Amino acid sequence: MNKKILIFASGRGSNAEAIHEACVTGEVRGEVVGVICDHHEAQVLQRAARWGVPAVVIEKKDYADKAAFDAAILKAAESFSPDLICLAGYMRICGENLIHAFPNRILNIHPALLPSFRGLHAQRQAVEAGVKVAGCTVHFVGTGLDDGPIITQVAVPVYDDDTEDTLSARILEQEHPAYVRAVKAFCDDALCVTRHKVTGMHAKEQ
Ligand code: GAR
Repeated sequence: MNKKILIFASGRGSNAEAIHEACVTGEVRGEVVGVICDHHEAQVLQRAARWGVPAVVIEKKDYADKAAFDAAILKAAESFSPDLICLAGYMRICGENLIHAFPNRILNIHPALLPSFRGLHAQRQAVEAGVKVAGCTVHFVGTGLDDGPIITQVAVPVYDDDTEDTLSARILEQEHPAYVRAVKAFCDDALCVTRHKVTGMHAKEQ
């Protein structure tokens, strides 16, 4: 049976689009049932309208404190009864209430090879550090910043003349298929999490 996927996004939504598209084509045994967004002007909201998927906007400024905001997010998330939550360019740290409500059911994509370059502007951090290999990571969401069991990673080269923008574009090209592969594996019940290690997607080819 198709898994119900809830997207959390803050902006452009190109990863969300890739996941939605893979569900529509049948590559992923899932259905995007909703979008939760923390910015009323985010482009992802136009995408959700085009897909015919309900979107809920929950902005931090409308709540007295983080606890009240986190409670509203959890209530909205539970209203969709999702099997899986995909953070797709969601630029906030999830409340622990959400993480505990959906253990090993929240995925994130980060534009770096974790555990390097956590946090904002990961691609800029990579350029400034002078690393020669960068990439993206799809992982289960833990309670720390950009931490949690790693599902898959894709590496890309960093060239001498790269800027934050050129490196971001090269990584983004890999983000979409990497995220789709990870979501597909989740929806096929192929992933197994043992403590910090995820297996099921990286078997050696025989
Ligand atoms: C992506 O590069 C994603 O990896 C990054 O934001 C971008 C969102 O693009 N996420 C993070 O930095 C989270 N720490 P999108 O809205 O087009 O998917």
